[in-house]
Amino acid sequence: MDNFTFYSPTEFIFGKDTQKKTGETVKRFGGNKVLLVYGGSSAEKSGLIKEITDSLMSEGIEYTILKGIQPNPTDDRVYEGIAQATREGVTFILAVGGGSVIDTAKAIALGAVSTRDFWDFFCGKATPVAALPVGVVLTIPAAGSEASGNSVITKLAGMHKLSIRTNILRPRFAIMNPELTMTLPWFQTACGAVDMLCHIFERYFSNTPAQLVNGYSEAIMRDIMARALELKVNGNDYEARADIMWAGTLAHNGLCGVGKEEDWATHRIEHEVSALYNVTHGAGLACIAPAWLSFVSKKNPDMVWRFSINVMGVDPERLDTDQIIDKGIQLLKDFYHDLGLTTSLTELIGKTPDIDALVESLEGNMGKTLGFYVPLSMDDCREIYKLAL
Ligand code: NZQ
Ligand code: ZN
Repeated sequence: MDNFTFYSPTEFIFGKDTQKKTGETVKRFGGNKVLLVYGGSSAEKSGLIKEITDSLMSEGIEYTILKGIQPNPTDDRVYEGIAQATREGVTFILAVGGGSVIDTAKAIALGAVSTRDFWDFFCGKATPVAALPVGVVLTIPAAGSEASGNSVITKLAGMHKLSIRTNILRPRFAIMNPELTMTLPWFQTACGAVDMLCHIFERYFSNTPAQLVNGYSEAIMRDIMARALELKVNGNDYEARADIMWAGTLAHNGLCGVGKEEDWATHRIEHEVSALYNVTHGAGLACIAPAWLSFVSKKNPDMVWRFSINVMGVDPERLDTDQIIDKGIQLLKDFYHDLGLTTSLTELIGKTPDIDALVESLEGNMGKTLGFYVPLSMDDCREIYKLAL
């Protein structure tokens, strides 16, 4: 295990009816003028926004609204939010939604207290030193943004989807009521499960020895898969909703990566797909992750072998290493198919993707190599896109 610092300062308020505590919690964290950020229409339709605004008003907290944030969020809405927050003298940003809404809120929080273009922080031209406080009411377990210091935004000019990671952006609190996730379309629940699983992959597939961390990471991965399949049968199963919601947080708050060199190649390879073709991030990962596993297992089989046995449940009896790995990857694909997702990029986007464009953009955003479990050249990434076709 490598030396590490683990910092996860977010207060998690978990369970039924917890959204009713939004006003008092914002107040406790010092918010008196709130920018309330949310997505398309789901939170309005369910009555959640009314509950939230009632809760803010009952605490005497003023608010201004920025709504209509779309999946794979873009910089134009961030600039709009920064201008609004500055004009209205906002002291706190409240995100009600999933990764797209939370990431927009975080980017606004950065830009609202800086004289620099917020994009400078995303493309590495500047280091963030301050941000407005952000709070979250989570409506979809997937991106883990409620517990991470990450924000992922697409710049419309050039369609560059870049992420930033800084402890400054870790939310002050996250209100997590599993019942709020029961209105999710099945596709979003399924993509959420794929995404959280992949957040553990990025940390689990590592060359750093970490017996304890690997053990609990495997337990969380097995639980995500079992609970996702249960939810496919009954989306109103509270215990399954609760487990998968908390798993999404544990997958990305850093716990599964402590003391380990993390990889993140799969995410970077996928981000190009969701930027260029506007596909749901989890659906893109269902295509890229098995392709990445097939590619890297040829060069570094150890952790893929362990994953196949301990997570995918392959019985190693009378099988050699290659057979165990092949079976493990096939079982992972079968799991994605059972969720109703495709593992083919061509099927996902409805045409053959432009691999040259994907690789060119990847290189422009990330440089000539990426990943650590097996460091990948751009030719390797091209192979992975081909394997995902
Ligand atoms: O906009 P509305 O109408 O709310 O619909 C949303 C949206 O269409 C819907 N939804 C959310 N909660 C719902 C609901 N529908 C019904 N009932 C509910 N309770 O779900 C759709 C997807 O929402 P989105 O916020 O896009 O989902 P997700 O949480 O998967 O976020 C994806 C974004 O997060 C980024 C991804 O790249 C993508 O842009 N990521 C952010 C990370 C981070 N900040 O740490 C890490 C991840 O790896 C990821 O890259
Ligand atoms: Zn992700």
